[in-house]
Amino acid sequence: MKKLNIGVIGCGFMGRTHSNAFRTAPNFFNLPYLPVLKSICARSPDRAQSFAAQWGYESFETDWRKLVASQDIDLIDIASPNDTHFEIAIAAAKAGKMVMCEKPLGRNPAESEAMVKAVEDAGVANMVWYNYRRVPAVTMAKQLIDEGRLGRIFHYRTVFLQDWTISTELPQGGEGLWRLDASVAGSGVTGDLLAHNIDTAMWLNGPIDEVTAMTETFIKTRKHNLTGKDQPVTIDDASLFLARFKNGSLATFEATRYARGHKALYTFEINGEHASIKWDLHDLHRLEYFDHRDEGKLRGWRSIHITDSDQPYMKNWWVPGLQIGYEHSFIHQAADFLIALGEGKSASPTFAEALKTDYVTSAVLESAANRSWVKVRSL
Ligand SMILES: NC(=O)c1ccc[n+]([C@@H]2O[C@H](COP(=O)([O-])OP(=O)(O)OC[C@H]3O[C@@H](n4cnc5c(N)ncnc54)[C@H](O)[C@@H]3O)[C@@H](O)[C@H]2O)c1
Repeated sequence: MKKLNIGVIGCGFMGRTHSNAFRTAPNFFNLPYLPVLKSICARSPDRAQSFAAQWGYESFETDWRKLVASQDIDLIDIASPNDTHFEIAIAAAKAGKMVMCEKPLGRNPAESEAMVKAVEDAGVANMVWYNYRRVPAVTMAKQLIDEGRLGRIFHYRTVFLQDWTISTELPQGGEGLWRLDASVAGSGVTGDLLAHNIDTAMWLNGPIDEVTAMTETFIKTRKHNLTGKDQPVTIDDASLFLARFKNGSLATFEATRYARGHKALYTFEINGEHASIKWDLHDLHRLEYFDHRDEGKLRGWRSIHITDSDQPYMKNWWVPGLQIGYEHSFIHQAADFLIALGEGKSASPTFAEALKTDYVTSAVLESAANRSWVKVRSL
């Protein structure tokens, strides 16, 4: 196995999921490359050092530019806030490094387009961490749709609900709360949560043609952690839109951080001519399936426990009946990246594919601002 030296930037939530994925993937998958945790970068030296020790990195850095310039690094993995993606990805591609980037790709399509151009001009492998595609039940939904089991698709219905920003006392900005500052995040729940729903939806059901949206910012001012002052809140707290897919099916999308009682309820339901599918992140190892072609007296929703070796990814894990969890979606994505690399390709979604999601989120924000239907740009 050839070694692939990895430099990860950011040691927060995603820094942990990625580090875990690179460490674990070779234990469960036959890979053409061995990921080596070469260096971790965070702004605080103490944090970077203790993260390096905890996760087994060979070294740490506090300036991502040093990681990008290092001859020892083959791949830069960006797990830092959204305002850092553009500059790091472009510098990394120019230095000839492979680039993995957290979602959303850029803060807006202009940033994302430049990032796509940079990796394509440099001819380097690239991928964006839309990890939910690699939950085995979601991958199986894709297989069932591609096999034509649902027939013509009529409806796609999806939500991503959270409740952690309801308090007026919650400040905005800075470490941990950068998501509430649009200058860092790009947008609120549209780019943070709905981007996931949109990526999965277009992967399962093809391109989105047009949207009409409404967004709301329920709490208008919050103290900013970096200035200490009360400042206007610039993100969307909730975002809802109707969409028409190119295949003629109709969709509803909803994301909010004001749905009391819901922590991370990502669900989708797809209704086709013959069959329907439902999936729920809180029960992520199950796929609900209804097939109208079943014998009438036995017809009903099946709750399929995705743990068997003929179901996606599961032959690499335990024995039938034993389920896996959230972190495995990242392990699968790291493994798929390395397998594709062995074949001289980039794994999906590439930067170019992730740009399509940014075109939809940008159309959603434009539609909400203008109270109109907006056509989604295509590549
Ligand atoms: N795929 C998913 O499901 C998913 C989930 C959460 C977050 N994300 C994305 O991952 C990225 C990071 O989010 P998070 O939740 O891990 O954030 P986080 O706040 O938990 O961690 C961010 C880390 O980046 C570091 N950082 C910030 N600026 C830096 C810089 N200039 N140089 C080096 N390090 C820097 C911070 O110190 C922190 O360690 C975001 O783009 C976010 O949208 C994706």
